[in-house]
Amino acid sequence: MNSMRVLLTGANGFVGSHILDRLRAEGRECAVLLRRQGDTRFIAGHLPHVAVRYGSFEDEASLRAALEGVGEVIHCAGATKALAAEGLFRANQGGTRRLVEAVNEARPAIRRLVLVSSLAAGRSGTRAAPAREEDPPEPLSAYGRSKLAGEREVTQGCRCEYTVLRPVGVWAQDREFLRLFRAAAARWFQSLAGAGRS
Ligand SMILES: NC(=O)c1ccc[n+]([C@@H]2O[C@H](COP(=O)([O-])OP(=O)(O)OC[C@H]3O[C@@H](n4cnc5c(N)ncnc54)[C@H](OP(=O)(O)O)[C@@H]3O)[C@@H](O)[C@H]2O)c1
Repeated sequence: MNSMRVLLTGANGFVGSHILDRLRAEGRECAVLLRRQGDTRFIAGHLPHVAVRYGSFEDEASLRAALEGVGEVIHCAGATKALAAEGLFRANQGGTRRLVEAVNEARPAIRRLVLVSSLAAGRSGTRAAPAREEDPPEPLSAYGRSKLAGEREVTQGCRCEYTVLRPVGVWAQDREFLRLFRAAAARWFQSLAGAGRS
């Protein structure tokens, strides 16, 4: 079993709360970085058993404090929507940059950083020519561009071992996708964007 303490950002969010479930099920020692105003209902059962560290990506001292005694970091915090693109870049690029800087300062104690990026940071493929990991990225949305910018903060700036993950859309319990499924069930549209291309 890996006994290094892992710091999870975005732990109270939809994806992060499932990561925390898994880490705890595996018996990992965990710390979570939370904002004071964050809704913790999905992780309330875990909170007595993890080190809770309050802070924000704007507060560099809070990031340094959050990394104390930590050996690995899973960076799952991120904005999936914002009123303007600038808000997406502030969270997904700026937040990642400051975390990477704090991680670099905390070497060699920090062994590895895992970034939860998104498939949206890559490019779209077609049925005949599916997108491949090594293809040059060409995000279609501001969200995808902000996640790609966050990836580059890691790949160009991180001085410890790192892994960048690009999950596909995650939908279980997610109310954004629920609206899409309801629309499809009501036959409000017949095809998803991009479907039918060959
Ligand atoms: N859901 C998907 O389909 C999907 C697919 C691929 C990748 N991802 C990635 O997975 C990660 C989590 O997504 P999610 O769907 O779980 O979103 P979510 O439920 O909205 O959770 C977002 C998490 O990030 C934190 N966060 C957001 N903006 C922040 C900021 N400016 N500073 C500090 N913390 C901030 C939130 O904290 P507060 O509660 O304090 O706001 C929350 O813990 C994101 O990086 C997203 O890009 C999601």
